[in-house]
Amino acid sequence: MNAAAQPAFDAVDLIRTKRDGGALTDEAIDWLIRNYTGGVVSAEQMAALAMAIFFRGLDARELSRWTAAMIATGERMDFSSLSRPTVDKHSTGGVGDKITLPLAPLVAACGAAVPQLSGRGLGHTGGTLDKLEAIPGWRASLTTAEMLAQLEEVGAVICAAGSGLAPADKMLYALRDVTGTVESIPMISASIMSKKIAEGTSALVLDVKTGAGAFMKSRADSVALAQTMVGLGQAAGVTTVALVTAMDSPLGRSAGNAVEVAESVEVLAGGGPSDVVELTLALAREMLACAGIDADPARVLASGQAMDTWRAMIRAQGGDPDAPLPVARHTEVVRASSDGYLAGLDAMAIGVATWRLGAGRAKQGDPVQAAAGVTWHAGVGDPVRTGQPLFTLHTDTPERLPRALAALQGAASYSPTPVAPAPVLLERIDSA
Ligand code: URA
Repeated sequence: MNAAAQPAFDAVDLIRTKRDGGALTDEAIDWLIRNYTGGVVSAEQMAALAMAIFFRGLDARELSRWTAAMIATGERMDFSSLSRPTVDKHSTGGVGDKITLPLAPLVAACGAAVPQLSGRGLGHTGGTLDKLEAIPGWRASLTTAEMLAQLEEVGAVICAAGSGLAPADKMLYALRDVTGTVESIPMISASIMSKKIAEGTSALVLDVKTGAGAFMKSRADSVALAQTMVGLGQAAGVTTVALVTAMDSPLGRSAGNAVEVAESVEVLAGGGPSDVVELTLALAREMLACAGIDADPARVLASGQAMDTWRAMIRAQGGDPDAPLPVARHTEVVRASSDGYLAGLDAMAIGVATWRLGAGRAKQGDPVQAAAGVTWHAGVGDPVRTGQPLFTLHTDTPERLPRALAALQGAASYSPTPVAPAPVLLERIDSA
């Protein structure tokens, strides 16, 4: 090997630097990300570095360079040819979080272009693409040309992010997922914002979840995550705002695939659970403000225009919006064990039960069941009587039921006195 071909850094030295609380230089960060993606830095070394970052963090300069280096490993998209302003939304992931489904067509019906490059579920949180694939015929993969044409004609597209967008994040996220290093503010921020900045949207609204069913369990950590992501977005020229929203209880009345599509269609038809409607409208207002569009999303939702856009969006991707959604071959009902008022529904327990019923996957590439999921028949604050149906479990494979039922043990808590449901919208963050 000649001198020019010698590596500029030694991965072990960089791991030690971070492990001992030092800062990585810009050049070291570029070298690490480029060479991890290129197969020179091994997965073991990156796993050790991820754990060091988990404990030591990244300072503002390191984080900005880390994010830029991840973006530089892939392509950047360009929506500047569109006649409508682009605005995107990203949620850090929750249980029953189907908001993208009604939100994208609603904001498009108000005049924006909404390019929603989405993912699949892994672990206890569901994936938007898995949910939409419950619709017969609907396809997640589009070419860039198809995506641009749909954005111009329909205004909204929800599709799979191509493998060319921040490939470093795909590798790193999969590694973090199996090494206990997901719950890190700098690494979550770089992961989400590298994809969003590479996607080329001009505005972005973040829904940062907080509570038992979220990656960030404490409000202070969630606010710090929101501030960090807003800072990264604004520094990259993307108008970015975050809402910190509650994820102690799951959203709406369903978690799973087809069951969440059905609930989203209810919202588009003017009904649906009040927390889903409230969060959809709050995010829509923020997205429209960021895009500079003066429209009232509540009026557009009530007018049926958002439903028309949903139908056009589903059809444009091969789906039949009128086809019946898959129904599970087996159901099991769990009944309330107490009289009183429903005081809590544990989002994490319901997420795990949903996953165990077959709605999610244990590892990348596993198939999911379109009809699997959990629905609940009362929300926090509702009066309940012993023996009334509380949850219905849906699955095609009944051998999954015992473990799902075990996850739901103690998922509901009761109060003898009235309980007010906790607010969903907690905080708005518009600066770092
Ligand atoms: N979602 C992402 O895309 N990345 C993370 O690190 C966490 C949630």
